[in-house]
Amino acid sequence: MAILIDGKELAARKREEIAKETKELAEKTGTTPGLAVVIVGDDPASQTYVRNKAKACEEVGFYSEVVSLPANTSQRDLLKVIAELNERIDIDGILVQLPLPKHINEKAVIGKISPKKDVDGFTPSNAGKVLIGSPKFAPCTPAGIMELVKSTGINIEGKHCVVVGRSNIVGKPVAMMMLHENATVTVCHSHTANLKGFTSKADILIAAVGKAGFITGDMVKEGAVVIDVGINRNDEGKLCGDVNFEQVEPKAGFITPVPGGVGPMTITMLLKNTLDAALYFTEEREKIRKKKN
Ligand code: GUN
Repeated sequence: MAILIDGKELAARKREEIAKETKELAEKTGTTPGLAVVIVGDDPASQTYVRNKAKACEEVGFYSEVVSLPANTSQRDLLKVIAELNERIDIDGILVQLPLPKHINEKAVIGKISPKKDVDGFTPSNAGKVLIGSPKFAPCTPAGIMELVKSTGINIEGKHCVVVGRSNIVGKPVAMMMLHENATVTVCHSHTANLKGFTSKADILIAAVGKAGFITGDMVKEGAVVIDVGINRNDEGKLCGDVNFEQVEPKAGFITPVPGGVGPMTITMLLKNTLDAALYFTEEREKIRKKKN
């Protein structure tokens, strides 16, 4: 039987620290970290994610603003909204909820976000910093995964980490972050031949494919650390991950549940990045003030 990695509990502890630091920042400088979340269209899953992000901001004492735009918003208008948010002094972090409607070029939009406010860590410069091992804003889901794996107490160094999924949001950055912790990393994807041959050798298995129950018991090594990034609905409409929990749990050494695993940590890392951005801007403003005096 696996030990459950309680993402909810770990997230709650970290959010308490963030709330404390936020209070101290407000008392010292009068600054409140501010996050703007931009959502285009009315995808119900995206709306839920955005609501959860705004609620989490409120709970730790941040200012948050949801900019909700209709599905037919032009790319030009969206870029204008981002340009305005880039300039606003009360906004430290900007997040554009993905996916965007098909007529909008995602890369162009992300590229418009100021890297100093890119709390998702998706801009090319921040993604590049993850690649070279000195992240400014680590992307939230991969950063949360690293915290969850570290919370097990296992030593990542020398372990074989297999990542299933190669998205820019999760698969690629988490592979880089594992590599920087001296894991031996294999990235598998939809074209991988003999997937089971790879997954069954993983000491650490990260499933980020977006298919309900995709990782079955026979694909997992005895005692492995299994991180389930998936948020899917099964045929009965029940929330479930990419891992077939019933089959994998008896074999794994550690496993994250869905819900209550990666999800709460993703939002927590977003809060941390937003606080870091606010601390950076506060310091910069202080430097300018001192120079003037
Ligand atoms: N859509 C799914 N996950 C994410 C995320 O981490 N950030 C953003 N901006 N959109 C997402």
